[in-house]
Amino acid sequence: MLPCKDEILAKFERLLVSGRYILADEVRLLEEELAAACGVADCVGVASGSSALFVALAMAGVRPGDEVITTPYTFDATMEAIILLDAVPVFVDIRPGDLNLDPDKVEAAVTPRTRAIMPVPIFGAPCDMDAINAIADRHGLEVVMDNAQAFGTLYKGRPISACGRMATLSFYPTKNLPGIGDGGAVCCRDKQDAERIRRIRGHQPVRANNHLYTGWNSRLDEVQAMVIRVRLARFAEEQADRDRVAAIYDSYVPADSRLRLDGGGQGMRMTYHQYWVRSRDREGLRRALDAAGVDVGVYYDPPLHRHELAVYCRAAADLPEAERAGREVLTLPIHAALPFEDAHRIGSVVRDFLAPGGNSGA
Ligand SMILES: Cc1ncc(COP(=O)(O)O)c(C=O)c1O
Repeated sequence: MLPCKDEILAKFERLLVSGRYILADEVRLLEEELAAACGVADCVGVASGSSALFVALAMAGVRPGDEVITTPYTFDATMEAIILLDAVPVFVDIRPGDLNLDPDKVEAAVTPRTRAIMPVPIFGAPCDMDAINAIADRHGLEVVMDNAQAFGTLYKGRPISACGRMATLSFYPTKNLPGIGDGGAVCCRDKQDAERIRRIRGHQPVRANNHLYTGWNSRLDEVQAMVIRVRLARFAEEQADRDRVAAIYDSYVPADSRLRLDGGGQGMRMTYHQYWVRSRDREGLRRALDAAGVDVGVYYDPPLHRHELAVYCRAAADLPEAERAGREVLTLPIHAALPFEDAHRIGSVVRDFLAPGGNSGA
């Protein structure tokens, strides 16, 4: 059942009658609320998370032939936006504990063509932003974050969306902060970036980075903004439910088979867009969960450096951890409506499978 259905229906009726469907009060208010929640100067609603990536990278000055360092363990859109700008995604391996870009491997991938680093807090886990920003500062690079999966995630006590020049959001219906269709946003630390993106999303040209950019249609519509605002008001409550489910899973899953945040996670908040476990015998674990009637997910298998579009990309070095995550990781249900008894039951299936002497060989 759609959470907040009655409230959404009541607001929808008002919106329908108002006749103001494009760039009116709901989008304006959502942008203000998101900027405050994300700790940034301004936020601009756009048509999707993919569109947000494209326009953010463009405004950060990524031009044809430039390189953008990113992770191969992410959704296709991360790479697509770079390729659409005729730039080159350069893949760097991930860390096994949080499945995020490994900052120790980023610097070796920097070349004279590198223009930006694009970290992706995958499944809602914070990336090591101090280390990434330090490398960016040393080499004069921009940091544009693909934050599609991590609205609400904190890095050292602050919203992770505020930890780069720009961070994108997606409101795709499976996201923790969802709409009922497509939608996205760009969180901007600098108001000038936001003003430029506002122009571009509404067919107005922009002069920046010694280039004249064409505008196009990348507007977030009022219906989506209205629904997202209703869900935003409930976000903390729904996140608390996801946190409860994650804590239940944590009590069953051995520490080396699940997320480990650096430094024990001091000041970090993981938002559990997905809760993952890993096993060398993922298929066996999947069968055990399947037999218990549990829907699981498998993502990024194979990772992007094995995608058909990898001909447009470069791997900075071998990517063994991304490969291993692609082979081993599986996600458990963690939506806010999951009953806690179900979480206990699912957790115990995983525990029994992964237990020494169980079936797993984890
Ligand atoms: C990491 C990542 N980047 C980008 C996107 C693209 O977002 P959208 O589907 O809103 O275009 C998604 C969403 O599916 C995603 O998970």
